[in-house]
Amino acid sequence: MGFKVPFVDPRTHYQRLKPEIDAAILGCLSTGDLIYRKQLREFEEQLAAFVGVRYAVGVNSGYHALHFALLGAGIGPGDEVITVGHTFLATVSAIIHCGAAPVMVEVRDDYNMDPDRLEPAITRRTKAVIPVHLNGRVCDMGRIMAIADKHGLAVIEDAAQALGATHDGRRAGGFGAAGCFSFYPFKILGSFGDAGAVTTNDPRVARQASLLRYNGEDRETGEYHGHGYTALLDNVQAAVLSVKLPYLPQWIEHRRRIAALYREGLEGVPGLGLPHFSEAHCFDVFQNYVVRSRDRDRLRAHLTARGIETLVHWPKPMWAHPDLGLADPHLPETERICKEVLSLPMSAETTPEQVEVVVAAIREFAGAAAIPDRARSAATSANGG
Ligand SMILES: Cc1ncc(COP(=O)(O)O)c(C=O)c1O
Repeated sequence: MGFKVPFVDPRTHYQRLKPEIDAAILGCLSTGDLIYRKQLREFEEQLAAFVGVRYAVGVNSGYHALHFALLGAGIGPGDEVITVGHTFLATVSAIIHCGAAPVMVEVRDDYNMDPDRLEPAITRRTKAVIPVHLNGRVCDMGRIMAIADKHGLAVIEDAAQALGATHDGRRAGGFGAAGCFSFYPFKILGSFGDAGAVTTNDPRVARQASLLRYNGEDRETGEYHGHGYTALLDNVQAAVLSVKLPYLPQWIEHRRRIAALYREGLEGVPGLGLPHFSEAHCFDVFQNYVVRSRDRDRLRAHLTARGIETLVHWPKPMWAHPDLGLADPHLPETERICKEVLSLPMSAETTPEQVEVVVAAIREFAGAAAIPDRARSAATSANGG
């Protein structure tokens, strides 16, 4: 179905950057720079500088970034790793593929790990914690780092949704032993396929990730240092990401403007929760704009009928998929979230006019009065970025 307001708009995204992207791709093709060439190193240097760490290691996905960061931190069979129940399955799969046991804890109303639930979940077997910076908001890293330090735990940040977001002025991916990013096409910085990276200040973690992504081989010496994987960040994708990274600050500003317009239009709509939380410590980048409604499924159907594309991240908890074999951790807030959350259209291409369409449809559903004038004028004065 063609949507009047699509969730994301990859074609417009490409058209806006077409000359630069085409030149980057053709540059790789015409020089034969395909695997492990200068474009990869250049992107890694740019990413490390952006995040504020010494090293970035390009891999083929956010999943493998997590997997290699955990292996680099020495996580293996018999260990427990604490993370949240409200995350993409890849976070938990990475723990399981290391042979370790995931221990899932509850999130707060901003969808991020509740630090109060972290310490009680620590046992003798706990070796690491994976805070997930969901929807473009960094977890309460001050408290999480303090608890992890007290108990000698490695912190592996799942920053797949939070490139550019900060906590107390520091960027996601620069707090723990490692930060893990995804450049899946619809992430805030997206490639044209699967891609990811590990960021770290620890040379051992960087070296492990470099070896693991290339079948254990040290490219300088040709020596194999263990059994690894084929999981390198493709050179062409790295070249594309280098074109896009300098635009990220303006795309973040655009997302924040779109979020502000949604807020103006939707604040006070009965039965609707909005994703605006304290920014005393955080600078949120709105990878997703997630609203909550007890009547979520009917609201979603109403929006679909009006040509508005939405997504649900995620409709049921991962332990409700029997084939995954995960024990139910009994997390009532996470269960409730799965029933109520709805992600509205949000990308660097979302326009104020599209926000007006979405706002009007939601207000119509809720039987709320028409969009207030204040929001209308803000919507028309913001530019489409
Ligand atoms: C929170 C979170 N963790 C991990 C991942 C995995 O990233 P990828 O899809 O690149 O493997 C994603 C991506 O969807 C994600 O949103």
